[in-house]
Amino acid sequence: MTSFDDEPTGSIQYVVTDPETKSCAIIDPVLDFDPKSGATATRSADALLAHIERERYELEWILDTHPHADHFSAAGYLHDKTGVPTAIGEKVVDVQRLWKGLYDLPDTFRTDGSQWDRLFADGERFRIGDLDVEVMFTPGHTLASIAYRIGDAAFIHDTLFMPDSGSARADFPGGSAYALWRSIQRIMALPDETRLFTGHDYRPDGREAAWESTVARQRAEKPHLVETPTEEAFVRMRDARDRELPMPKLILHSLQVNIRGGRLPEPEADGRRYLKIPLDALDGTAWGE
Ligand SMILES: [Fe+2]
Repeated sequence: MTSFDDEPTGSIQYVVTDPETKSCAIIDPVLDFDPKSGATATRSADALLAHIERERYELEWILDTHPHADHFSAAGYLHDKTGVPTAIGEKVVDVQRLWKGLYDLPDTFRTDGSQWDRLFADGERFRIGDLDVEVMFTPGHTLASIAYRIGDAAFIHDTLFMPDSGSARADFPGGSAYALWRSIQRIMALPDETRLFTGHDYRPDGREAAWESTVARQRAEKPHLVETPTEEAFVRMRDARDRELPMPKLILHSLQVNIRGGRLPEPEADGRRYLKIPLDALDGTAWGE
């Protein structure tokens, strides 16, 4: 397993490998986007492919844990380049419906998840080479979030961050602190030694980026779980914290790409692609920030 840290967005991308067969999967690949210039690039995604080629791995899956609100997914680009199937959680159709409304997308935009090759249900299993993968539905941060459990490892995306960094926020459209609490309990019920790989790390206090913990370490060190050990207390804490957070910089840029399976909007008559930014559609404005 190799991790690729995308510094501009604090996202962690993973290449998970079966050492026996050399089959591998990519989890949560990033398509580079510079909001200042509107430029997109495939440097990060190409680095994943270069690594896979260098190590002579065979790519079997391009996986996302959820439709991200802070970066563009490179799943569409990687699929078009490699022909390898893409997948995400089956509830992505609910996220598509919600954001289709927020963006006022035309009827030609399909909300049936057909932008991915496979939609995973809770408890579904598939393989990466000889590795058995179990899908865990872990909503809260989004309606559609899933975690991938592979042997003694679990890729838990935006549920829990590193022990010094709390949990994901739950205030995006379709988010729920209650659902997030239940998802966290599910993760914490995994065996103590389970290695947890998070989807983000924001390097608190300037420490080195880190992304791997264990269930035992989260339990021992996580203030959100230790100091707010009940659902009610967690939800109160999470909601209060989320009210103070400004929306992520790229939420309106990225969801319109990510509900298309990581594909940019179709070109307009001049051959150029455009993003659409709905005004006054979201709460959570922190004018003071
Ligand atoms: Fe996220």
